[in-house]
Amino acid sequence: MATAPTVLIMGPPGAGKGTQAAHLVEEYGLRHLATGDLLRTAVADGTPLGVEAKRFMDAGDLVPDDVIIGLIRELVADLPDDSGILLDGFPRTDAQATALDEMLARLERSVDVVLDIAVPNDVLVRRLSGRWICRTCQTPYNVDTKPPRVPGVCDLDGGELYQRDDDTADSVRNRLEVYVRQTAPVADHYAAQGTLVRVDGAQDFPVVRAAIDAAMQPVTT
Ligand code: AP5
Repeated sequence: MATAPTVLIMGPPGAGKGTQAAHLVEEYGLRHLATGDLLRTAVADGTPLGVEAKRFMDAGDLVPDDVIIGLIRELVADLPDDSGILLDGFPRTDAQATALDEMLARLERSVDVVLDIAVPNDVLVRRLSGRWICRTCQTPYNVDTKPPRVPGVCDLDGGELYQRDDDTADSVRNRLEVYVRQTAPVADHYAAQGTLVRVDGAQDFPVVRAAIDAAMQPVTT
């Protein structure tokens, strides 16, 4: 049994990683490190990282490995030993997966479970075109499947809802291609380690959540 589990959540754009991450944080007290959120904060703050990352993100391409690995290395090294971790959107390439294994080994940790959420492309495209996100807490909403109580306003903190710059048709198309080419093969790395659990993410929210809870059971009890 792991007292401080290291959990990865992966899946194509719109699979529901951010949605289910909120549940994992609340239910299991994991520290959430989402590379997409970190990069969007850097872009909004106009930091050198944000300036460099923005053109890749807007086009739907991956930010270079050395940039992302450096970002995660600092954050992982600073985590307390007893903190469970949820990595969301990292690793996305074989080089990132290898770097993560090395970072964790130095801390005498390893990946405990990889939640690999699968959803058909037509559903992903529909979800992303209807997604609105809270500027303050990043909670995702959806005009079709999870509308906010008041249009344009976050139910949780009253923050303004916005649509991401990379949720355009062209960028989504490229993000889906990049996922197949560069990120889907990363699942093989974890399948070989015996930590990969595939989750059908096309089901209703509570059904997906229950599948994730079942996958988490061995590492939390
Ligand atoms: P990132 O922010 O990680 O984006 P992504 O992988 O494209 O995934 P999304 O955030 O779009 O989707 P999600 O799976 O979180 O879905 P959500 O829960 O919102 O990365 C953005 C960019 O940053 C990358 O393109 C890249 O440029 C860069 N980047 C990030 N990490 C990197 C890395 N490691 N290396 C290099 N570059 C990196 O749900 C989507 C919608 O569906 C919502 O509206 C939601 O309400 C709805 N929904 C969710 N679940 C369900 C359900 N079960 N039923 C119905 N609707 C649902």
